[in-house]
Amino acid sequence: MAEADASGRMTAAVWLTLLLAVVSAVDRSNFKTCDQSSFCKRQRNLKPGSSPYRALLESLQFSQDSMKIQLINEANKVPLLLEFYGLKGNMTRLRINELTPLKARYEVPDVLVQDPPTTRLSVTGRDENSVELSLGDGIRKVILTAKPFRMDLLVGWELVLSVNSRGLLVFEHLRQRKDSFSDKVSSTVVSIWDSIKNLFSRTPTKEPDPDGAEAAEASNAPLPLEEEPTEKTEQLEDTSKREGEAEEDPGTWEETFKTHTDRKPNGPTSVGLDFSFPGVENVYGIPEHADNLRLRTTEGGDPYRLYNLDVFQYELYNPMALYGSVPVLLAHSAQRTLGIFWLNAAETWVDITSNTAGKTLFGKMLDYIQGGGETPQTDVRWMSESGIIDVFLLLGPSPADVFKQYTSLTGTQALPPLFALAYHQSRWNYNDEEDVNAVDNGFDEHDIPYDIIWLDIEHTDGKRYFTWDPNKFPHPREMLQHLTAKRRKMVSIVDPHIKVDTGYRVHNEIRSRDFYVKTKDGNDYEGWCWPGSAGYPDFTNPQMRAWWSSMFAYDQYEGSTENLYTWNDMNEPSIFNGPEVTMHKDAVHQGDWEHRDVHNLYGFYVQMATAQGQEQRSGGVERPFVLTRSFFAGSQRYGAVWTGDNSAEWDHLKISIPMCLSLGLVGISFCGADVGGFFKNPEPELLVRWYQVGAYQPFFRAHAHVDTTRREPWLFGEENKALIRDAIRERYALLPFWYTLLYQSYRTGQPVMRPLWVEYPQDPTVYGIDDQYLLGDALLVHPVTAQGARGVQVYLPGKGAVWYDVHTHQKLHAPQTLYLTVTMSSIPVYQRGGSIVARKERVRRSSDCMQNDPYTLYVALGPQGTAQGDLFVDDGHTYNFETKGQYLHRLFRFSGNVLTASTADPKGSFETLAWIERVVILGAGKPAAVFLKQDGAAETRLDFTHEAETSVLTVRKPAVNVGADWSISLR
Ligand SMILES: *[C@@H]1O[C@H](CO)[C@@H](O)[C@H](O)[C@H]1NC(C)=O
Repeated sequence: MAEADASGRMTAAVWLTLLLAVVSAVDRSNFKTCDQSSFCKRQRNLKPGSSPYRALLESLQFSQDSMKIQLINEANKVPLLLEFYGLKGNMTRLRINELTPLKARYEVPDVLVQDPPTTRLSVTGRDENSVELSLGDGIRKVILTAKPFRMDLLVGWELVLSVNSRGLLVFEHLRQRKDSFSDKVSSTVVSIWDSIKNLFSRTPTKEPDPDGAEAAEASNAPLPLEEEPTEKTEQLEDTSKREGEAEEDPGTWEETFKTHTDRKPNGPTSVGLDFSFPGVENVYGIPEHADNLRLRTTEGGDPYRLYNLDVFQYELYNPMALYGSVPVLLAHSAQRTLGIFWLNAAETWVDITSNTAGKTLFGKMLDYIQGGGETPQTDVRWMSESGIIDVFLLLGPSPADVFKQYTSLTGTQALPPLFALAYHQSRWNYNDEEDVNAVDNGFDEHDIPYDIIWLDIEHTDGKRYFTWDPNKFPHPREMLQHLTAKRRKMVSIVDPHIKVDTGYRVHNEIRSRDFYVKTKDGNDYEGWCWPGSAGYPDFTNPQMRAWWSSMFAYDQYEGSTENLYTWNDMNEPSIFNGPEVTMHKDAVHQGDWEHRDVHNLYGFYVQMATAQGQEQRSGGVERPFVLTRSFFAGSQRYGAVWTGDNSAEWDHLKISIPMCLSLGLVGISFCGADVGGFFKNPEPELLVRWYQVGAYQPFFRAHAHVDTTRREPWLFGEENKALIRDAIRERYALLPFWYTLLYQSYRTGQPVMRPLWVEYPQDPTVYGIDDQYLLGDALLVHPVTAQGARGVQVYLPGKGAVWYDVHTHQKLHAPQTLYLTVTMSSIPVYQRGGSIVARKERVRRSSDCMQNDPYTLYVALGPQGTAQGDLFVDDGHTYNFETKGQYLHRLFRFSGNVLTASTADPKGSFETLAWIERVVILGAGKPAAVFLKQDGAAETRLDFTHEAETSVLTVRKPAVNVGADWSISLR
């Protein structure tokens, strides 16, 4: 009964919210600014200056691989414990927690793939105010200064990174509420305080304790508390100036945003720290934001915010939070690339300042000529609402090193099944089985390949996930089998909001197992979402996740078959009537953690449990495919991410590039944007251009809002249909290349879509470029993203390099900026001279149909007449490549007029019928003859043609198996 009442009451408010949402674009007032988030405001009020923190050198403790030292805030005397580790592979880790917190503070689990291996730390110098440490091989040193506390990282004798050099370390210690002693609070609180004061004492800081951390830890033992609570309160008030007026600020113990009040039983708990990069002017990363690739300085505006939110019709070019968060920032200069990984899952804000931000290029040049001016420097400040400071410093020095370092911590991109790289057809909604059938047939009728058709929320029985609408989808198994016969797949949506309905098995099971997130009062938390009143399974609970995974078994998810895959939407989580359209921060998860502590992890866990469920249903044989909207550091291990609910607007098309580039920089390579734009109706030109862009992004799916008109590719006239078909066919031809890129990403952590600076780190021209990018190191893509475009300015990087237009095979010299005239059919793509790219040029109905089809190798000769490339081949869908070594990793090399094929990895072997049908050599002269040589066989002559005008040599029918070793000589 209480339930009905609650949801009844909710309805009016909710419908009003929904109504408002529908009539306007982003309602910024639904989302907090830094000023409206009390900890952000408090911390930001603290300006750079001398840090009140002092390191107690007397407390210094060493082990082989770590250093521990106490920090004390001179104002409030609360001791912190700093732990510092040298990690293998040019990384360090810095952790700061309270030495003796009132209760445990949250430390993010499950994101790191292992305890990072450490290296040796040794003391190489010391004086009365500092210690010098040497890491591993001794090239990297750290100088810790005691007063005021700061740390400086040196490589050789060069300072590359400073910590707390601007004095912005903030650590709001857990405390008793001071008005606990006023008449507002019952006597029970006082008695709690009494017991606490007997159990616990802050180390009173007379002289620093010579025995250091151990002695301080021992202070957990009952000690008489020297001060009365009132004195303590006064003491806290003294500190409040440095701690951003923590006690006075009305938002400290409770804050209200719109109609929602966040009662904070733990009071203020935020943490913050600053990092400086001397010599650095370019910083990247910290997705997800709808902004440029190169991050802007945040002075005069809000910091970049990381707080997973369902933002209705998000705006572009601003630092507002979106659906996912990866707290990783990269700093780049011509000398080096560095990274910061701030492992904290609470609401986080990142401020970026720079001493050269306001300067024009001319101003900088003047500084340079006159020898004046400071070294450029970028400062980054992180602020999180709760948890501890746990930060990894990734010291590069190259971009590839930083990617390797970061993915050694959080894992590399999972290798998706091959079909997942093909084209996906989605809309909200394909209405019923007939509709699915008609769309599926439409692709065949119009000769357009596609692999996967998607069902959004309407396919369910009243938004009850794991069910089918009995009228619209009465025969899911037959429908799926029909797709299987066409070698195609389906994806159905499974969201984490569970309809509160005692007639719904999933709800009943979750409730009976007590798996729902709780309110602060211990009841099941309920919010409003698509099904109406909904519960939110506690995905932070491993038992809950195991149960969720079991729901994907074929006998649990009725009607599902092995070609059904999953889409997790709304997993920020989205709650229509919650604060900022998400969960109340004082909701409670397993282990008594507040939602505040775990918020940014919720979506990560949903995708994790879903992917594991798919794996389990096949006995661990098949690779999963799960798309998620919300994500965190490490989400790359579980599938694909898309950029959420974008709009059919040219600017949204354009921003999809930097959004996916930013994700790739922080491990998440499998990224895409809704082709066509989710909201609104694209004009045909925009739709065509979007297909052309999407065909060159890793995750390629068309999707549309329920209120949009239908937009299957054949609905816009013959000409547009042909253009869309061409773009999709280009994608299918390049699938072997895409698959190999994803494999490389899985093996080495390198991004699939790369900003130019990743491959050309010393060329300052490219630091700000985000309208073109590289796929691996071989293809440069500059999609057309402007309405009515007649041309694009393409920058070809690399001193002395050459590039080939993949459509005309024209050879171009670099570096240069060229103006390329475009038509509606243009997708400007260039292959780097020196690379070899494999394609399958017999495009069929679906990728699965092309499995045994032959390859064409495109050998683009570099300035020295050489080239190299690789190709990964396996069954395309199982883990046998990992567990049984069933794969081919082939290496192709061209040099001295000979192309050789050998293995890049002798550990793998795989039987395939696929063979090489053609080799196209770009930039080649005309040979007199071409010979093929295979092991143990006589040389045979091969047919060829040569186009003098473009220098393209086409060698026909080597007809060698793709797994064989061979060579082709031009003579
Ligand atoms: C560590 O840095 C050195 C240069 O100081 C570099 O040569 C090496 O490749 C780096 N190692 C890793 C694993 O990043």
